[in-house]
Amino acid sequence: MKKIAILASGNGSNAEEIIKHFKNAEAAEVALIISNKPDAFVLKRAENHNIPSKVISRKQLQDGDLLPVLKHYEIDFIVLAGFLLLIPQYLVKAFPNKIINIHPALLPKYGGKGMYGDRVHQAVKESGDKETGITIHFVNENYDEGEVIFQGKCEVLPNDTPEQIAKKVHQLEYKYFPKIIEQVLLDQ
Ligand code: GRF
Repeated sequence: MKKIAILASGNGSNAEEIIKHFKNAEAAEVALIISNKPDAFVLKRAENHNIPSKVISRKQLQDGDLLPVLKHYEIDFIVLAGFLLLIPQYLVKAFPNKIINIHPALLPKYGGKGMYGDRVHQAVKESGDKETGITIHFVNENYDEGEVIFQGKCEVLPNDTPEQIAKKVHQLEYKYFPKIIEQVLLDQ
C-alpha cells in the first residue's frame, strides 16, 4: 500500500475526490495533507477524514523542511492539487517521477508562473478558444513543464463565463484525476 501526500493551497475539492477514491482502493491511501495556507479549507477536509495535516511556509518549503515530514509519514508519492508554490529542486530529486500536478487548461497553453485558478479561465475566455480542459503531468523544477500524462478536453461555448468554464473543468478534474493517479501508481 503506497502512501500519498496531497499538497494544496485552497479549497481542496480535488483533494476531497482523491481522498474518497483511495478509501476504496488497494493501491494507495492518502496519508498526509500539506498546505502553505493556515486557513485553507483543505485542512478542514483533512480533519473531517482523520488524515494528518501540516502547514508549511514558503520559506520552510525552500529550506528543505518538508523532506523530514514526508519521511516521517513514509510518503511514496506526492500529488499537487491546487498548490501554488514552486516545488524546489531537492523535492523533485527526492521524488523522481513521483510528483504529479493537475493544471486547469490544455498545457502548454495558459501555464506558467501566475497562471492559476480563475486567471486561467479568464485567459481562455478572452482568447476565444473553442475548447479547454485539464492537464495532468509530472512535476519538474519549472511551473507546468513536466512530462504530460493525460489531457482531457471540454467545449467552450461563445457565451460561457469564466465561472462556467471553471465548472466544466472541475468536472473533468473530478472525473479523471483520482483514476490517473491510481494508474500512475500501479505502473510504477
Ligand atoms: C484546480 O482547478 C486545479 O486544476 C488547480 O487549482 C484548482 C484547485 O481547486 N491547480 P480545488 O482546491 O481542488 O477545489
